[in-house]
Amino acid sequence: MSRKTAQKSQDSENTKERSQKTGDAAFLDQTLRPASWTEYIGQKNIKENLKVLLKAAAERGHPPEHLLFYGPPGLGKTTLAHLIARETGAQMKSTSGPAIEKVGDLASILTNLSPGDILFIDEIHRLNKTIEEVLYPAMESGHLDIIIGKGPSARTIQLDLPPFTLIAATTRIAMLSAPLRSRFSGGVYKLEFYTDDEIERIIERSANILGVEIEPAAKKEIGKRSRSTPRTANYLLKRARDLAQVKNEKLTAPIVEEALRMLNIDEAGLNPEDRAVLSIIEDKFAGGPVGLNTLAAALSEEQATIEDVYEPYLLQLGFIERTPRGRVTTDRARKHLGKNMKGLGI
Ligand SMILES: Nc1ncnc2c1ncn2[C@@H]1O[C@H](COP(=O)(O)OP(=O)(O)OP(=O)(O)O)[C@@H](O)[C@H]1O
Ligand SMILES: [Mg+2]
Repeated sequence: MSRKTAQKSQDSENTKERSQKTGDAAFLDQTLRPASWTEYIGQKNIKENLKVLLKAAAERGHPPEHLLFYGPPGLGKTTLAHLIARETGAQMKSTSGPAIEKVGDLASILTNLSPGDILFIDEIHRLNKTIEEVLYPAMESGHLDIIIGKGPSARTIQLDLPPFTLIAATTRIAMLSAPLRSRFSGGVYKLEFYTDDEIERIIERSANILGVEIEPAAKKEIGKRSRSTPRTANYLLKRARDLAQVKNEKLTAPIVEEALRMLNIDEAGLNPEDRAVLSIIEDKFAGGPVGLNTLAAALSEEQATIEDVYEPYLLQLGFIERTPRGRVTTDRARKHLGKNMKGLGI
């Protein structure tokens, strides 16, 4: 190797190292994020509706109306917001419910928007009530009411805001007040779990971007255990790729199985925490019904985590059911637990 070539390959090694130092996770998340409607796989109905809405707004020369996306974690809500900004050429400013602590925080975000901007508020269910009320007139008629002073001398001044689009996301639609929900005039959209075929297409696309060759059986295996969720599919793909790389082998189904065994993820895609939810209902509460608060106490988990993170997929699999008296496990769950509790160290 000539000195020049050696230097060049050293440079590219350094770049690689740098990108890894700045955070492999963030770097990969960025690169795997779909950047166009065609790359955004699935969610057909939402895409169809949004395309019409965005096109009509563009033709009228207005920013699109306010949009709300909800559904379990990792299904593509944030990605959708980025995609809309990209497709419409709008500048997007991002914040989140818990980051807006005072009315003044929201006022400063809103007054700093430029015409046509998208304001993305993640976890909007965590916005407190007083702040929510400031948001109403901003969403409805594009102005901000600010109270200056206290007591009898207090007065309200009204500031006009530039036209903007609010896009909000939440995993907990039930926590949003009806008045707030109704102000998303462009619509409230529920993201669905992905079909096996869609998940496999997502894995294929991600594998291409990562430059890994993946055997069809391996793709199927990852797909099956992805909880019908793109974020999980990408995560499992990366872990299986790591193992293949370290073992200097191809990305085959047995490698996927080994990688997932190491991560304690079973054939339905459940991890030890998911299985703990099932086995506690099953063993401690004789299959239920058990109320959410009792279940949360038994698991030492927040109720919200159970409802947002564990339950949606267990319901989707038909492993648990919600009854008026609480959660119950199903025969299907019992069968699964029988096969998967052994040898997993729980
Ligand atoms: N429809 C899709 N097609 C391809 N990849 C997707 C799709 N949706 C999501 N992804 C991938 O999954 C990852 C997670 O998606 P995203 O962060 O948008 O989820 P989210 O719904 O905002 O989750 P959370 O509720 O945790 O914020 C993205 O980085 C992206 O790579
Ligand atoms: Mg998100």
